[in-house]
Amino acid sequence: MSTEFKGLKVVVSGAASGIGLATAELFEKKGARVARLDFAPIETGLSFQVDVTDEIQVAEAIAAADNELGGIDVMVNSAAIFLYGPLLETPVAEARRVLDVNLIGTFLVTRETVRVMKSRGKGGKIILFSSELAQLGREHHAAYCASKAGVSAMVRCWAKEFGPDILVNAVAPGPTDTPLLDYENLPEHWKRLESSNPLGRIGQPKEIAEAVLFLAGPGSNFMTGQVLGVNGGASMV
Ligand SMILES: NC(=O)c1ccc[n+]([C@@H]2O[C@H](COP(=O)([O-])OP(=O)(O)OC[C@H]3O[C@@H](n4cnc5c(N)ncnc54)[C@H](O)[C@@H]3O)[C@@H](O)[C@H]2O)c1
Repeated sequence: MSTEFKGLKVVVSGAASGIGLATAELFEKKGARVARLDFAPIETGLSFQVDVTDEIQVAEAIAAADNELGGIDVMVNSAAIFLYGPLLETPVAEARRVLDVNLIGTFLVTRETVRVMKSRGKGGKIILFSSELAQLGREHHAAYCASKAGVSAMVRCWAKEFGPDILVNAVAPGPTDTPLLDYENLPEHWKRLESSNPLGRIGQPKEIAEAVLFLAGPGSNFMTGQVLGVNGGASMV
């Protein structure tokens, strides 16, 4: 077994489901110590039930994770929600919630993590989640796409703000087989759209988790401010 992650202290938000869950499991399999954050209750290991949009809950959970783990080396911010909504039919409260969870939630979790990383005088790695849709755009997905384009912008800002000690990158998954996408229940034309990439299929959560581990590991030590597409070739720039 590879030992490059042995003893690494990792926090994963959105770890109750999908890509966050697969990421937490892969880190643990490779010897890392993981604290899980999610809105949903989690029974496994060190975990905190938090709403990432709540400033106090986030600050308390990150401080507690830092305390329990004895520091944070890597933070993975996977928590997000999805919104399908034609502009003319989308209540503003739904659009605001997507921006709040995906953008402000990422802002808060990152801010508190940087705070504790700096207080220990150590560097670290921060890995955020954008989406291929931030680049491609898609009808009826404006609020979600805007939230993810915002994450890509924050990655570049924070890479400049916190280098060289803290490296900030993102993964931008293509359609991935999780409850967020709910692929099995999509209409046929939408299923075809999601799998129409050069690899002819949607991704599996573990395939995205592998890219997260690459960004967390030493192989990416000269990368910061990058948004890494993991999308079967659906988007190529
Ligand atoms: N699945 C895809 O097709 C796909 C494509 C591109 C990008 N992404 C991104 O990948 C990341 C992971 O998505 P996923 O597909 O695993 O989704 P998922 O729905 O399976 O998991 C998301 C997790 O976030 C948690 N969460 C939601 N709101 C929260 C809140 N306010 N506070 C705390 N936790 C909250 C949920 O409880 C859930 O456990 C997200 O950032 C998503 O936008 C997913």
